[in-house]
Amino acid sequence: MRSEWKGRAPGRVNLIGEHVDYLGGVVLPAAVDRFTEVSGHPAPDWAIASDVAGGIAYVQAIGEELGVEPQAVRVTSQVPPSAGISSSAALLVALAAGLNPDMDGKEAALACQRAEQKATGVRVGVMDQFASALGRRGCALLLDCATLEYEVVPFPEEVAVAVIDSGEHRSLASTPYNQRRREAEAGDPKRRRHVDSEVARVHAFVEALHGRDFNRMGELLKQSHRSLRDDFEVSTPNVDALVERAWSAHGCYGARIMGAGFGGSILALVDGRQTESFARSMARPILFCSTADGAFVKTQ
Ligand code: GLA
Repeated sequence: MRSEWKGRAPGRVNLIGEHVDYLGGVVLPAAVDRFTEVSGHPAPDWAIASDVAGGIAYVQAIGEELGVEPQAVRVTSQVPPSAGISSSAALLVALAAGLNPDMDGKEAALACQRAEQKATGVRVGVMDQFASALGRRGCALLLDCATLEYEVVPFPEEVAVAVIDSGEHRSLASTPYNQRRREAEAGDPKRRRHVDSEVARVHAFVEALHGRDFNRMGELLKQSHRSLRDDFEVSTPNVDALVERAWSAHGCYGARIMGAGFGGSILALVDGRQTESFARSMARPILFCSTADGAFVKTQ
């Protein structure tokens, strides 16, 4: 192990394909231009100095996954915690990139997924870690979570990606995330209806992206939200109200709850020429994101 090391990894958005990754479905996330940076050196015990909460369990878990000796780690992050753009995946992937930069990106994503599960007890899928590791600037990733085969799909510059924090923050461990996963795995008809319709929407969304049909993309986001709200039951009244406000805001093609849910953030796709009037009609802080390269993408 080198003595001093550094790593950096982006947060992610998920355009569509929610609560299907852990069932082997297809998802369409993108890495975004908000990064977590880490540095460290060997130390007698694992230690972390961080401006983000909850780090030590993550650091230890990924260290064990990668089989490295204890390290003292420093973390700085532009990825807001608990806001739905996967601060924990950004932290884990940054650590993996710092501790083992030559690792294969898929292997790194899987190691980070296992570390996340170990650190939190939440049986998350691989989507967030995969996007943070292998996302591509200018693109989304169409990822088949059953095989880990993926395709990069160009994302149009004219469409702005907006993430809006509902202010309802939660740690996944205190939500029914594991319960929803169990219900879907057990074949509960309502949960399955969400999963099957969501997978169909991912394919329809990619087709709309290829055809540059932004209104259709927005309509699919709305359908995804309704399905997450009514069939998968991971939304909250507060998040529903925010999503509905976005649906009627200036320049908005569509919006939905994003990520695990039970609070967190919403995603809106907005006409890039109308971001200011969209922000005025939402009247709350908005994180406009651009797509970025993942930590394990080798750029010349
Ligand atoms: C969280 C998990 C992901 C995925 C989403 C829901 O972000 O980390 O694996 O299951 O929730 O789509």
